[in-house]
Amino acid sequence: MTVDSGLVPRPGILDISPYVGGEAKAPGIERPIRLASNESALGPSSKAIAAYRALASEIHRYPDGNARELREALGRQHGLDPARIVCGAGSDELITLLLRCFAGPGDEVIYSRHGFLMYPINTLAVGATPIAVPERELTVDVDAVLARVTDRTRIVFIANPNNPTGTYLGAQDLARLHAGLPPSVLLAIDAAYAEFVNRNDYEPGIALVNRADNAVMLRTFSKIYALAAVRLGWAYCPPAIADLLNRVRGPFNVSVPAQAAGIAAVEDIEAFNRARAHNERWLPWFSDRLRALGLVLTPSVANFVLARFPDDPRRNADAAFAFLQSRGILTRQMGGYGLPQHLRITIGTAPEMETVAAAIAEFMAAR
Ligand SMILES: Cc1ncc(COP(=O)(O)O)c(C=O)c1O
Repeated sequence: MTVDSGLVPRPGILDISPYVGGEAKAPGIERPIRLASNESALGPSSKAIAAYRALASEIHRYPDGNARELREALGRQHGLDPARIVCGAGSDELITLLLRCFAGPGDEVIYSRHGFLMYPINTLAVGATPIAVPERELTVDVDAVLARVTDRTRIVFIANPNNPTGTYLGAQDLARLHAGLPPSVLLAIDAAYAEFVNRNDYEPGIALVNRADNAVMLRTFSKIYALAAVRLGWAYCPPAIADLLNRVRGPFNVSVPAQAAGIAAVEDIEAFNRARAHNERWLPWFSDRLRALGLVLTPSVANFVLARFPDDPRRNADAAFAFLQSRGILTRQMGGYGLPQHLRITIGTAPEMETVAAAIAEFMAAR
């Protein structure tokens, strides 16, 4: 296919349906309740905001291209070798860079059927073929993934916990998945929501990366650290993969504000604990409320719920979305993920959760 000018994009590009982010505005409503993008309920650490403000007069300077202080702060926090950390403009950029390093035309990249959409989008962007593997109960099916690996497979992307389902694989299942992969296939564990998980059998991927040459873990500052706007993520890698990523990334891919805010956020343990405790309180509260209204929820371990609405057109997910939007409450429709009967709703502040729970109760009760 060609575009109008006669220029021909690379194969795969025109197969991409552009990513549609969550709504940020509700018509006629000045300050909507924004529960559509899994942003943090409590906002960033005040220390991160102060660090961001403090460098306003320095923005004519290029960033430290190696993000050394940030990688050292992450290394201290997680007990990791900073040389094995690579930072990116959001974990989205790191997904792109991994694909650029390992996949191209003729190659296959596996993700789970309701996995994060940036995996198939970025796979198509490098000309490779995304392979969606069916899930079991909206959870990654390890056997189904392993059964789909061929000699063309280059990367398996697993979001753990997964967005938008909120489900996760325990450390044993993840290790079994990794053990079943040939050494030539990279396991990319995207642990964007790791900090919210409160389960004994969960491990974000560090242990696996420590003992494997073909596993990486991706993390983000967009969720619990509430820095989505500055775009900051990081990868923990085997040394050889860190070396590859450092070759292909832009020389100044992480901005000065992102580095400064990131360092302050990592070091603000109190703000981190507050955000975690908030989610631990409101995730079960909200889930119980929705279940009591007859909605079907996946057992989410992240900072959002995936709720299945009835099929009845007056009560379905589209009708619920429109009803909530008319009240200034923004949730996420899931048609793009193949889950049109569901809405994904982020855990917001306490008043926001009370408001949305009451609005959904009203919606379900309406005649
Ligand atoms: C599973 C998963 N990975 C990665 C990202 C992207 O995060 P970032 O803002 O760091 O690019 C998201 C954001 O929603 C996500 O849900």
